[in-house]
Formats: sequence, structure tokens, C-alpha cells
Amino acid sequence: MKPDLRVTIAGMEFANPLMTASGCCGYGEELAEVFPLSRLGALVTKSITLKPRLGHPPPRTAETASGMLNAIGLANVGIDAFITDKLPFLEKQKTRVIVNVAGSSASEYIEVCRRLNDCPRVDMVELNVSCPNVDEGGIEIGTDPLQTEKIVADVRKVFKRPIIAKMTPNVTDVGIVARAAEAGGADAISLINTLTGTSIDVNTWRPRLTYNRGGLSGPAIKPVALAMVDRVYNCTRLPLIGIGGITTADDVVEFMLVGATAVQIGTALFVQPDAPVRIAKDLTAYLREKKLHSVTELIGKVRKY
Ligand SMILES: Cc1cc2nc3c(=O)[nH]c(=O)nc-3n(C[C@H](O)[C@H](O)[C@H](O)COP(=O)(O)O)c2cc1C
Repeated sequence: MKPDLRVTIAGMEFANPLMTASGCCGYGEELAEVFPLSRLGALVTKSITLKPRLGHPPPRTAETASGMLNAIGLANVGIDAFITDKLPFLEKQKTRVIVNVAGSSASEYIEVCRRLNDCPRVDMVELNVSCPNVDEGGIEIGTDPLQTEKIVADVRKVFKRPIIAKMTPNVTDVGIVARAAEAGGADAISLINTLTGTSIDVNTWRPRLTYNRGGLSGPAIKPVALAMVDRVYNCTRLPLIGIGGITTADDVVEFMLVGATAVQIGTALFVQPDAPVRIAKDLTAYLREKKLHSVTELIGKVRKY
């Protein structure tokens, strides 16, 4: 019998635990040319803000050892164009749709989520309170437990479907911020967003990004992400979505063993856009080999010393 890849988060069933990570496949149109989006558990959109944003000037990405730096600056079409131009395409896809929301103030998050509440095919929102690449909003909310709790509680009042709070790793203890999100009424936690980093060109003596610093992602951050998922699994009761450097089925298994119910795949999509399809196939083979009937049998089963 084929192992069961379905997982449930906040009472909602997903075909498998593999989601795309925000910012790594836009609004899904290009990815749908590579494989049917029904192969994903969910598509997570690029962060949406109230007004359209151009983001930072190029260069805004740079390759690093086992990873990449980016300072895109939340370039996106804004909520109005998202609803009229991008959402109709996503509504036709046979996958769950999670819209990542960002803002520079509480009222911006609330207004974007209020409008998304009127879009029934938006299954969940993911609150990006963790973006390191903007001057206001994002990370300074996500590093402050009180602001995190308040934003989640405010959005809770206007958005009637599940809310995911996305954590920044750029804190001393991610468990404290995750607990604050839980207290605010979050239904799930996703982690991690990128780690602040930079890279300098030794010939020009200039940083490789016009924003001077950026967010580090890719395999380089996987051990950090795993430790943070482990930490949050042990201090909240919420379902977790692991993110950070996932490129193989073994990576997914590691994240699930330390407590993730699902995972998101980000930087790997730039290297191999159909990575989720390969990973799902390999995950099925892994479960068969281990004689497991369901992927959920992995969740939190790490055998610690
Ligand atoms: C180019 C790029 C753009 C990103 N844009 C966003 C974004 O708009 N919102 C967000 O919450 N995270 C964004 N992220 C962070 C990813 O969603 C993810 O948390 C991070 O890259 C770690 O996962 P990975 O190592 O699999 O890439 C972006 C990452 C990259 C590489």
C-alpha cells in the first residue's frame, strides 16, 4: 500500500507536507509550467503588502557557500492587484493556497487580511513578521514578543481562517516569540525566515547587495532551522511548518522528526524548480523502506540522547 502523505494543520487537510516558501515562486504561475501545482501540499505566495512595492535596486541576490543572500525588499504587486490579477489563477489550482502577508504597521497587516477574508480560496494567511530586508515592519515586529502577540491578535479579529506566524531566527530565543504568537491566537508557526548576513566584493570593496546586507537562506541555514523547530516544538502546542535549506526527502524527515508537521521549500526551487515533486517521490520511498503507513508517524519522533 502507498504510504499516506496527508497531514492536517489547524483542522485543514493537506495532500502532502510539502509547501513552497514565500518569495521563492512568486504567485505560482511560472511554477505551474514546471509541474501541476496539485503535487504540492500548498503554495505559499510572495509577501503581499497593502500598496505595490518595487523593492530594492539590483543586485539584490548573491550566492554564498551552500546558500544565497537576498535583499529583495518585499517587491510585490500589492493587495488590490493580487486579488484582481493573481488570485484568479491560484483559485483554479488544485492545491491549498496560503497568502503571506507583510506590512510596515499593524493597520497594514489588518487591512490586507481583512480583504483576504473575503477570498474563500485563500485557505490560510502566513504573517511575515520576520522580513530582515525592509526599513520598517517585518523583523522589528518579529523580534519583539509583545508586538508579535498584538499583530496576531489584531489579525485574528478580522481573518476567520487559520493564521500562521512566521518566525525570524534573528533573536536570542525563538521559543519566546513563538509563545507570544500562540498567545495572540496563531494556529500554526512557520520557521525560519532568513538569517541576517552580508558579503563583500574584495575587488570593488562594495557589498554584493545594494541594501548592504540581506537574508541568508539555503542548505547553509538548515542546522539552525532544525534546532529552532526543535526548540519551538518543545515550548508551544501549535503545529509547526519547518523551513530552511530543505533540498532532499531526508531533510524533510529531519524536520518532521524534530516536530514539524509540514515543511516549505525555498532556495532549492531556484536550483531545481521541480524539487517538490522529486522530494515527494523520495519521501514515499523512504516511508516504504521504513515500513511506515503515514508520514505523520515521523512527527516529533526524534530519539534524543
Ligand atoms: C529570494 C527570496 C525571497 C524571499 N522573499 C520572502 C518573502 O517575501 N516573504 C517571506 O516571508 N519570506 C521570504 N523569503 C524567505 C523564505 O520564504 C524562507 O523562509 C527562507 O528562504 C529559508 O528557506 P530556504 O532555505 O528553503 O530558502 C525569501 C527568500 C528568498 C531566497
